[in-house]
Amino acid sequence: MSHGPSASGGALVAAPPHGHYHDEPHEPVFVGEARTQLDTILSRYPTKQAALLPALWMLQDARGWVSEKGIEEIASLLEITPAYIKGVVSFYTMYHQHPVGRHFIQVCTTTPCNICGAEEVVKSFLEHTGCGDLGLTSPDGTYTVIEVECLGACGFATPVMINNDFIESVTPESVPRILSELK
Ligand code: FES
Repeated sequence: MSHGPSASGGALVAAPPHGHYHDEPHEPVFVGEARTQLDTILSRYPTKQAALLPALWMLQDARGWVSEKGIEEIASLLEITPAYIKGVVSFYTMYHQHPVGRHFIQVCTTTPCNICGAEEVVKSFLEHTGCGDLGLTSPDGTYTVIEVECLGACGFATPVMINNDFIESVTPESVPRILSELK
């Protein structure tokens, strides 16, 4: 699966250069209820390091993406290095390495879906969300659209993931309805 937003220019809200967010203030995520939840997760694993993926998921759930400061917080809690965590974050497509829209739209454009018109579906999403280009976020912060590789539904082109929801057989014409049904 290809990874994360692939910004390719355009005039809207592009992902800034890597590192741009480093100076952003960071309120700790793992306090109060979240800390209790993390402790519960930790109790299920043989080592602290083994809880890295769910900890990253909690961070992203709380903040919408995995920030540098968030990584440092987790590194401290799980007693592993930030460099190790960054390697993990960059490996998995489910973690966002910079802020994305409230609705994160992933369209499969691998060959079988491409042959069935996935590029037109992408164009329709870009047009109707106002994102303008892949990897960019719409000016109101609502949408980010990216291409991904096989979503495992090759017989149901074009499959699309919007946040955690999976939608099969999306066509350019069905895009406006799908967007209008998002909350
Ligand atoms: S190629 Fe698109 S889901 Fe497999």
